[in-house]
Amino acid sequence: MQILVIGIGAGDPEQLTLQAVAALNRADVFFVLDKGDVKQELVDLRTEILQRHATGYQVVVGRDPERDRSSTAYVEAVDDWRRRRADVCAELIAANLGADQVGAFLVWGDPSLYDSTLAILDDILARGELSFEIEVIPGISSVSTLAARHRVPLNQVGRPVQITTGRRLAKEWPDGVDDVVVMLDAHTAFTAHLDQDATIYWGAYLGTPDELLIAGPVREVAAEIEKVRAEARERKGWIMDTYLLRRS
Ligand SMILES: C[S@@+](CC[C@H](N)C(=O)[O-])C[C@H]1O[C@@H](n2cnc3c(N)ncnc32)[C@H](O)[C@@H]1O
Repeated sequence: MQILVIGIGAGDPEQLTLQAVAALNRADVFFVLDKGDVKQELVDLRTEILQRHATGYQVVVGRDPERDRSSTAYVEAVDDWRRRRADVCAELIAANLGADQVGAFLVWGDPSLYDSTLAILDDILARGELSFEIEVIPGISSVSTLAARHRVPLNQVGRPVQITTGRRLAKEWPDGVDDVVVMLDAHTAFTAHLDQDATIYWGAYLGTPDELLIAGPVREVAAEIEKVRAEARERKGWIMDTYLLRRS
């Protein structure tokens, strides 16, 4: 058994790499966890990618378990969610993938960034009931797309850059870095840092027809981003945004 973990880019079907297209063709069974949420466009994008590039395949859908969002113990809640997702995936793989077959998970952006697919597969292997090889096909992440759209590098010359979450940025600006990329921000955490002399490069729905981009001194554009973000979220029912905060 082999499982391919295929990065599919952050929203534009043209971001699929030639390697990803070849991998899509190799897979016999695609495993999908149905989140049952309102992001129908994301489901449609996956369907379009499969229809355009995969051949002779089967799609198997499992129900994504709910995450306990009420818990204050964030890491424990995510760990628990991952274990329950591993239960669902292990069942799907055992019931649907033959010994000589190739299975695949499509991963938004790149599998290396804030995605639990690899951890879930490792968890399944560690249980010892199933055995398979894993191959990862890198994808274009929302972070690469953000930098490209704003035509900026992520780091300043010879300097580090840190990728973090909105939850962490809301608490403090990380030590030792002037360039911070923020993902998974549900609450515009940049507004906690209007005292900083920083520039923000913000992007939402990157790579899609609804893409939104705003850049400028964070003090000056924060209110505009909050307004545009709230309106877009209201209109579409969901939002995915990423930004770079840069102190010079
Ligand atoms: C669960 S993480 C997955 C990241 C993904 N593996 C990647 O490489 O981009 C989801 C977060 O990625 C960012 N993101 C993903 N796609 C995006 C897009 N098209 N536009 C803006 N941000 C995006 C957002 O910060 C979102 O909260």
